[in-house]
This record gives sequence, structure tokens and C-alpha cells, in this order.
Amino acid sequence: MPSSYLHCFFFVALLLSEVCGNRVGDSGRYPLVVSTWPFVEAVRAAWTAVDHGLSAVDAVVEGCSACEELRCDGTVGPGGSPDENGETTIDALVMDGVMMEVGAVAAMKYVKDGIKAAKLVMQHTQHTLLVGEPASAFAISMGLPGPTNLSSPESINKWTKWKEDLCQPNFRKNVLSVDSCGPYHPKDTANSCAQANPVGTIESSPARVGLHSHDTIAMAVIDKMGFIAVGTSTNGAAFKIPGRVGDGPIAGSSAYADNDVGACGATGDGDVMMRFLPCYQVVESMRRGMEPKLAAEDAILRIAQKYPDFVGALFAVNKEGEHAGACHGWTFQYSVRSMEMEEVEVFTVRPSTVSMST
Ligand SMILES: *[C@@H]1O[C@H](CO)[C@@H](O)[C@H](O)[C@H]1NC(C)=O
Repeated sequence: MPSSYLHCFFFVALLLSEVCGNRVGDSGRYPLVVSTWPFVEAVRAAWTAVDHGLSAVDAVVEGCSACEELRCDGTVGPGGSPDENGETTIDALVMDGVMMEVGAVAAMKYVKDGIKAAKLVMQHTQHTLLVGEPASAFAISMGLPGPTNLSSPESINKWTKWKEDLCQPNFRKNVLSVDSCGPYHPKDTANSCAQANPVGTIESSPARVGLHSHDTIAMAVIDKMGFIAVGTSTNGAAFKIPGRVGDGPIAGSSAYADNDVGACGATGDGDVMMRFLPCYQVVESMRRGMEPKLAAEDAILRIAQKYPDFVGALFAVNKEGEHAGACHGWTFQYSVRSMEMEEVEVFTVRPSTVSMST
């Protein structure tokens, strides 16, 4: 563990007693930037933008773009998270909390600028979500660079190793496969076929996803005018089934913003989380008066009750500038830059005892 990380950890531990959703900026609450994970450079980029007077939407785009360029954790931007075919695709979303405008792209190929493509959808179409190669074609037609090869030597190596490990883990369930790398067949409905298959037909094991195989940047910005925007960008879960879209581009799941209330950003097992729209729940809870910390924990708990093994986290921030996080199945960190801070600060959130049911 690098010493700088340790240093940061202790620094964070010292700060912990002050957090838990009770930080109210007393001298000018805005601007404010909050992001999942210690994506410090991304927060700095968004802060610089919003501090220079850019809008919340533009600052979110600056921040998430920085993460795409840096390939944060290898799970944002190009060159990471290969799917079963070894291909990297991009999911991204931007939401303007003033009029609840949303632009998003999903399973986008050949274009590395996810958040900029999402902004083009929001600002230059009446649609909300474009997917697949048509999303790429749209982004390129509107001026983004491409087609670009989104694979990197690292993503290809990762994929090659996965193939050598018999394509494990993967996201299939209730399937049979002759050599474990597919083609896969449904287990229950293909009884007669299964019998006809050669001996040695094996069952695919359930995905045991590593802690860094599905990280997302989800960012919220409150600009100087008090306007709120959120954005997300990810290249999705490693070894996903091609065509899979996670929670990243789904408004209300990975992120949500309402100018009257606040915002939320989420990360984790998107396949599960998107069934609960946790960020929508967080914002609606805060609208009805719940504090960010309680709203965040409540949303996480609701998922944990049905999926005790799920891994996920989110942050909540209200328009007073109070922020908090909650998590399940892993220790979560989120980053904040506010008026009262001289640098980006990283907050550590441990899984709440209530929801730690494993
Ligand atoms: C894309 O890049 C990867 C990694 O550098 C490389 O292996 C692959 O051949 C490239 N694909 C194309 C079509 O150029």
C-alpha cells in the first residue's frame, strides 16, 4: 500500500467524526462538487470549471471527462472492462436538475467521450437515451472524435486471461455450455438438448465480481447560481454479456438531480441497483424532509433487504450542501470540494451495521 494512500486514509479517519451528513457550509454554500470514489483529479477539474463560473452541467462534463481521459480505475473511459467479446463500450449520463433534462448513451462503441456524447443527446435532441452503434454514429456526426478503438493492451490482456480461465467468472446463470465459454444454452428448457450434448457439459458458475470490476464515476455539482447537475460515466462491468446496459445511463438509478432538493450519485452492482432506482428514492426522501445520511442509508437498506449479497454505494447531497454516503458489501469513499475546503477531501463510509446482513 503506497504511503500516500495510508496518509490519505488516516487523514480521512480524522475527518470522519465530523461528517455523517452534517456539514453545512456557513459562508456561501456554493459551488460544491461531490463524486463517487477518490477521483480527486475529476473533482478538481469540475471544481475549476464551476469556480470559474461555468454551469453545473458544464462542470459535471468537465469532471467526468477528466475521469474518462485518466481512465479512472480502468472502469471509466476507453481501454477497460472488456465484454465477453473483448470489446469495451461506454455508458454515460448527464442530468440537469433545473428542468429534469437528461441525455444518455449506452453500449456506445468507437467513441471515447461518453459524457460529452450524453450532453449532445441532452442539448441537441428531444430524446433521452441513445444506444449502441447508432449512438456512436450520432456522437461522431455531432463532432466528437471517432471511430476510435476503445480497446487497450490492458483490456485485451485481461480478456485473454479470462478466456484462458475458461471465461470465469461471467454473468450467465442457469445455463449449460460445452466448453464453459459458450455458446450457452438454457438449462431448464433444454433438457433434451442437454442430454444430446457430449459428456462434460458444464454449468457456468455465477459471477463473483471483483471490487473493481464495476466502478462508476457519478458526480454532482451545485454551481454558483445554486443550480444542480449530475453526470456518470463508466465502461460497465467487465466480462458482461454484449449488449448489457447497467445503471450508469439510467436516470434515477446511477444519479438524479432536482434543483429544488439536491442530488445523488451511485456506484456498484448496477444490474441489481437499477431495479430500485436508489438515487430517485434518495432525492424523493430528501424532498420529504429526510436528512442526506438517512436518505442514503434507507435507499441502500431497501436493496439489501432483497439482495443481501449486493455490493453498492451512493452519496446524497442536499441543496444546503449537506452530504453523506451509505454503502453495502464494501467500504465506500466519495470526494468533495466545497467553498470551505482548500483541497478535495475524501470521505470514507463503512457499511452500516443495519444493512450488513452477511
Ligand atoms: C484495438 O486495440 C487493441 C489493443 O491495442 C488491439 O489489440 C486491436 O487489434 C485493435 N483493433 C483494431 C481493429 O485495430
